[in-house]
Amino acid sequence: MEKEITFASVLENPIYKDRDVLFSLRPPTGFLHRTKQKNELVMELAPILMKSAVSCVFVYGPPGTGKTALLLDLLDELEGEARKRNIELKKAYVNCSENRTETSILLSTLSQVDPEGKYPKMGWNRAKTVDEFSKVLNKKENKNVLVILDEVDYALRESGDDILYRLSRINNQVSANTSTIIISNDVRVSDYIKPKTQSAFGRVKVIFSPYNADELFDIINERVKLALKKDTVSDSVIRKIAEIEAQRGGDARRALELVDACAKAAIARKRTKITIDLVDSADKSLEENSVLNVIASLPKHQKILYYAILKNEKEGLEMDGVEIYRKYLELCPSYNVEPLTERRIRSFLVNLSESSLISAEVGWLKSLEKKSRKVSVPLDKALKTKAVKLLRDSI
Ligand SMILES: Nc1ncnc2c1ncn2[C@@H]1O[C@H](COP(=O)(O)OP(=O)(O)O)[C@@H](O)[C@H]1O
Ligand SMILES: [Mg+2]
Repeated sequence: MEKEITFASVLENPIYKDRDVLFSLRPPTGFLHRTKQKNELVMELAPILMKSAVSCVFVYGPPGTGKTALLLDLLDELEGEARKRNIELKKAYVNCSENRTETSILLSTLSQVDPEGKYPKMGWNRAKTVDEFSKVLNKKENKNVLVILDEVDYALRESGDDILYRLSRINNQVSANTSTIIISNDVRVSDYIKPKTQSAFGRVKVIFSPYNADELFDIINERVKLALKKDTVSDSVIRKIAEIEAQRGGDARRALELVDACAKAAIARKRTKITIDLVDSADKSLEENSVLNVIASLPKHQKILYYAILKNEKEGLEMDGVEIYRKYLELCPSYNVEPLTERRIRSFLVNLSESSLISAEVGWLKSLEKKSRKVSVPLDKALKTKAVKLLRDSI
């Protein structure tokens, strides 16, 4: 029989000490197993403190390997050192999943380097933005500028590598010493960068490899000391979580989310400890919810596209890029939307595949002529049904 849960019993939980700690971007007690990457980055960024030197650094590794968190930490340190030494350093951090075009990346950079200036999010064309960018980087107060483009793979896929090319040449055109760090979740990112740009960014690469089970164990263990009450989780539970996530791609964020799901499962069952039997069911609930959340947050055209794929699969049709596009074209009028080009749709397929909503071998981007391989949907049946319903309701 199901036990009753009350608000009071949830609030008086015996498990959490400080749940938010599980989700904090910066590890409260420092980074584990990242000394090598940190040292490499320090070596590359230190010249910025020698005023005239500039760096072009390329950081990559799969999601949840600590790239964003470690870089933000290091940038704080770098700024601190610069201040101590009276070196003027302006920094711009741009998340390219939110700014996918050259114009919006430059506008975001401008508004950080020159906070007094008025830079609209929309309405400026590329020429005007580029012009303003050069002006600002020629101002005498902007001596050293550091631009960090995080999740740059989104921008590269969406709008090519013009932004990188521009930044790699900028020092010949403006007076500011401009350094650039690009961070990518997609390890195949070099495929999207043209050779002439690669020569600038290919030199220094810092690689964040997926964490193995031992490393994840340490990361989780350190975090639960702050997040959970004493003795609520045993080493064997942590080891199991670490092993599951190591197998899946060594993502520390997911590992910490699984810890959270286990804690929630224990509370829901009125337990005072997280026991090993909870891990699998917590994992399952997390998986389902996260898939549905990803689907729910897809933009309209991607929802239509994913719906087309699910429908095709239900009808048992072979699916390649051409077939999927045809189905998408068919669906568009019923949603009263203008279809997008096949090229855009293919880039969405890459997105869907990276969110694990479809499985496909990627031949898409490199050439449109190339026949894409068969696409399938790696969700179980119950989840597919839920997904179809969600899409119907929300497109
Ligand atoms: N080496 C580490 N030590 C402690 N926590 C880590 C480590 N690497 C990642 N994390 C945690 O994992 C989560 C994801 O890190 P993040 O920097 O966003 O990864 P990425 O940018 O590579 O996707 C964050 O909560 C971060 O604190
Ligand atoms: Mg990141």
